[in-house]
Amino acid sequence: MAEGPNILVVGSINMDLVVRADRMPSPGQTVLGKDFTTSPGGKGANQAVAAARLGGSSRMIGRIGDDTFGTRLLENLKSEGVDCTGVMPTPTSSGVAIIIVDSLGENSIVVASGANYRLCPDDIYAREELFADADVVVVQLELPLPTVRTAMNLAHRYKCRVILDPAPVPRQMPDELFNVDIISPNVVEAQALTGKKCIEERVDKSVALDLIARGAKAVAIKLGPRGSMVVISDGHFYRIPPYKVRVIDTTAAGDAFTAAIAVATASGEKLHQAAKFANAAGALACTKIGAQSAMPTAAEVKILMEDQPI
Ligand code: RIB
Repeated sequence: MAEGPNILVVGSINMDLVVRADRMPSPGQTVLGKDFTTSPGGKGANQAVAAARLGGSSRMIGRIGDDTFGTRLLENLKSEGVDCTGVMPTPTSSGVAIIIVDSLGENSIVVASGANYRLCPDDIYAREELFADADVVVVQLELPLPTVRTAMNLAHRYKCRVILDPAPVPRQMPDELFNVDIISPNVVEAQALTGKKCIEERVDKSVALDLIARGAKAVAIKLGPRGSMVVISDGHFYRIPPYKVRVIDTTAAGDAFTAAIAVATASGEKLHQAAKFANAAGALACTKIGAQSAMPTAAEVKILMEDQPI
């Protein structure tokens, strides 16, 4: 186990069923794909693996099914050095994500939540000891919202920093979920949360200020090929340029970004500095196929940052 900051991820664990295809099907259309793979994913589990690879001491609270996917998902997390004492087997199927990756590396994802949706507030209270020495608690929204809210409340009680990756954005986002230290949406999510239209990855500072007005102390928006934007509640604003890489598959690049923000800020970096590290981690995640398997190590991030000083 790494001796870096204690990162507790409360989130989803999915088996990703991935098909590569030249293009995404339109509604009603069938397209022939290429290869098919199954590989460990889930936004929460991806972030837990990324946090471990990036130098954090990573722990996870989540649920897996009592099927062969569940066994494989748990084994993979353990093999990555993630503490899985908070991962509970559940008498149902594991979460599954159907993913299509097109020739540009862009993806479309549908998730069948399975065991993830059985993670309830009492499960979080039952693992309260994991919050006691966490530096950062990272949550996403592939779990029931009352469970996410409970995790945030416990994190606040234990004075842990809270990072919310608001993915996927629910139809009704409860106001109290904005009460976090850092919110890290991508452009689509920032748009859905604020109702403000963003053309491509051109996001106005006012989008981030809206999220701050709703309760977030700081915002780190993932801008894909344009890097990222950081806004702090005192109004400080930074645009962090992207790293240039050959994109193969963008799946879980956002998860690498959020995990890198968690590790770097918990290690004492200012958020705009942490965002450089996170941009590099997100970029590297795009250079490999898959989700957990594509998460970069701290050493790989260091090399990219030295190669391309920004
Ligand atoms: O962010 C990518 C992840 O979203 C995939 O691994 C999939 O499981 C879904 O949770």
